[in-house]
Amino acid sequence: MENLDQMVAQAQTDFAAAADAAALEQAKARYLGKSGSVTAELKSLGKLDPDARREAGARINQAKGRIEQALEARRSALKEAQLATQLAAEALDVTLPARGAGQGGLHPVSRTLERIEALFRSIGFEVADGPEIEADFQNFTALNTPEDHPARSMHDTFYLQDESGGVAPGVLLRTHTSPIQVRYMQAHVALHAGAETMPEIRVIAPGRVYRVDSDATHSPMFHQVEGLWVGQNVSFADLKGVIADFLRRFFESDDLQVRFRPSFFPFTEPSAEIDMAFMSGALKGRWLEIAGCGMVHPNVLRQVGIDAEKYLGFAFGMGPDRLTMLRYGINDLRLFYDGDLRFLRQFA
Ligand code: DAH
Repeated sequence: MENLDQMVAQAQTDFAAAADAAALEQAKARYLGKSGSVTAELKSLGKLDPDARREAGARINQAKGRIEQALEARRSALKEAQLATQLAAEALDVTLPARGAGQGGLHPVSRTLERIEALFRSIGFEVADGPEIEADFQNFTALNTPEDHPARSMHDTFYLQDESGGVAPGVLLRTHTSPIQVRYMQAHVALHAGAETMPEIRVIAPGRVYRVDSDATHSPMFHQVEGLWVGQNVSFADLKGVIADFLRRFFESDDLQVRFRPSFFPFTEPSAEIDMAFMSGALKGRWLEIAGCGMVHPNVLRQVGIDAEKYLGFAFGMGPDRLTMLRYGINDLRLFYDGDLRFLRQFA
């Protein structure tokens, strides 16, 4: 009896030590196999007389049952362990954050345009826009630009083709944002027709413009922001104040100077270029041209039906690309239009 108990205990120990199914089957054979110890015990029964055989047989069968039970228990433990390992290996952490769609950012020039719009809105300007495919009338004629002006030549301006491949008469890619002045004034006049006194016009118009031009500081497409203030009491001094104040707020610095240098534009009289210079920092003392401006030419007012004896105004057209380069310290205009994410991401 001791012998059988020992055998069962040994079998339990052996089964527990079997690390996988194959080892367990080998251990099983040592007890329940053809030449296993349980089988040997059963064989030995034949030598006993019937009473002793019945009694010994019952004990052996009981021991065999316990061994089989231990075997089954170990089998299912191994199966469960294997399943657990497999589940762990194939685990999917659904709580990990998703990769997401990637976040875009505003182009540096768009940031500048938004900033310019916010600053001018804060002093009562509206923001307007107009078509990029513009009529010759609004782009040139209404702006007092004569037929033979060089800006109208094929060298400077992108004209459009008609169906037969010839130059489509009267339409072009706008060369500046000044035609929006014309469109805005035309609409304003129509809106206030018959009124004793026309309300003031105060508007800026940002947008893309096109010229036959391409190098490190010129791109065939670039941006301008047009400005226009027309009323009964608008002076060149107002122009100077608005521009100087705008620049100081735009660059968040009082440490800059603005100068108005006499110039010529067909649609203003007198006309000036606006230059600015920082009084400190890396660009200290270097004058940079940032806009053209002037008092709106009476012919322009007349073209849109405004009484040039009663109203006057100033206009300007500035280069937001240049302002962006100054604000962020960028030295090549082409970076804006290459679409290189390594550059653009720095502004996101
Ligand atoms: N349209 C001019 C250009 O593209 C810039 C300009 C100059 C606009 C004077 C104005 C202005 O409104 O008054 O070069």
